[in-house]
Amino acid sequence: MALITKAVKGTQDVLPSAVYENRFLERAMTDIAGKFGFNEIRTPVFEHTELFQRGVGGTTDVVQKEMYTFDDKGGRSITLRPEGTAGAMRAFLEHGLFNEAMPQKVCYVISCYRYEKPQTGRLREFHQFGVECFGASSPAADAEVIALADAIFDFIGIKNLRLEINSIGCPECRAKYHDALRSYFGSNKSGLCRTCNDRLERNPMRILDCKNSACSKTIAGAPVVTDFLCRECSEHFEGVKKRLDAMCIKYLENPRIVRGLDYYTRTVFEFVSDEIGAQGTVCGGGRYDGLAEELGGQHVPSLGFALGIERLLLLMRAQAVPVPQPEMCEIYIAAAGEAASIEAARIVNDLRLSGINSQTDVVGRSVKAQIKYADKINAVYSAVLGDSELQSGEILVKKMDDGETAKLGLENFTEEFLDLSIKHSRGAVAELIGSHDADISKFIGGFL
Ligand code: HAM
Repeated sequence: MALITKAVKGTQDVLPSAVYENRFLERAMTDIAGKFGFNEIRTPVFEHTELFQRGVGGTTDVVQKEMYTFDDKGGRSITLRPEGTAGAMRAFLEHGLFNEAMPQKVCYVISCYRYEKPQTGRLREFHQFGVECFGASSPAADAEVIALADAIFDFIGIKNLRLEINSIGCPECRAKYHDALRSYFGSNKSGLCRTCNDRLERNPMRILDCKNSACSKTIAGAPVVTDFLCRECSEHFEGVKKRLDAMCIKYLENPRIVRGLDYYTRTVFEFVSDEIGAQGTVCGGGRYDGLAEELGGQHVPSLGFALGIERLLLLMRAQAVPVPQPEMCEIYIAAAGEAASIEAARIVNDLRLSGINSQTDVVGRSVKAQIKYADKINAVYSAVLGDSELQSGEILVKKMDDGETAKLGLENFTEEFLDLSIKHSRGAVAELIGSHDADISKFIGGFL
């Protein structure tokens, strides 16, 4: 029985009191991405298992250990998406988006599923904001995608994030690197876990991403990929760095970044924080020039990133980053008796249709209990509507914080209340405009 009222391990509810933070982030991120030319794509939460086996790679932890995979009633092997890139690329290929203006730039806000050991910043159901740029091989695209992630963090007001970048080369330079890794790890087999010993032949770069502490020491002495880059890959990487420099985006070169998914080629990057515990990578991404072909399509050089929304929220809380408050109740109309309740229904409906957050009683409480409720929900104004107000056609509206009152007519209540509210510059809408408008208007057209 207890199971019915308890969320599954590694999943989280977002309660009404907190959901505004998610909505703010989702809106801000998609709007900023829009300024960079990325338009939203929505793909299914589950895909054929093979998509991830082929796309993400059979030797990755994600595919080997973490996928939520099941057979559906038709006997198909189905997997809940562990990430968004493979599904977005599948959709791009399936719908022939390569026939439209290239590059195709898409973004998404999605839930993802990985059976990992839950801890702070690591969930089994988590959410990503991601972008993908399909059909762009130039280093200008890499720099643009990194600049977009940087602009998002900057806009939200996150500080002290470290951008780490690396190039893991193309299949040609990678082959040489694989040989070097095989030879190094081959002579240090006893310092590797069983899984890594299996990886040695199939995909030695995956060893570098092993989370097993037994392997860390051996990994520390392994050759680094940047020593094996071919001329084109080196030039590409230089081109990315020059553009980041030109945009004054600070980065650290970290030749140890290989990323945990198999599709990456050339540029890889991560935005890392030291303020949210062991799971400090808030955003990760890179280029994946071979993915489309791996999935049976043509050559589509592409790249992107995904940002973990739960980790970003952890970081925002750690840094006490302010988020625009949700709209609150501007006015609560308490009603005494049936006739007043009917008139209150008309008035609040009119207010709401004019965009004013307003409430009245829907549970049959006493007037005293209604006002108590108005106080609890932080209504800015309240008013009591009874027989005498119905008769006089006027109602006393009271500011809940300082008790200031004003008499308004019932007939044109909405117009008169709007005048009053603007005159006092009160309420959630006014506060929101006051504190955040300058910043928000930098990127978000019409957010308010
Ligand atoms: P990823 O590094 O596996 O990359 O995940 C991206 C981000 O998702 C991480 O940096 C982290 O913030 C968040 N994340 C990952 N796993 C968890 C988890 N178990 N709990 C909470 N947050 C998590 C990708 O998924 C690639 N598809 C990114 C990409 C897009 N590369 C190119 N395009």
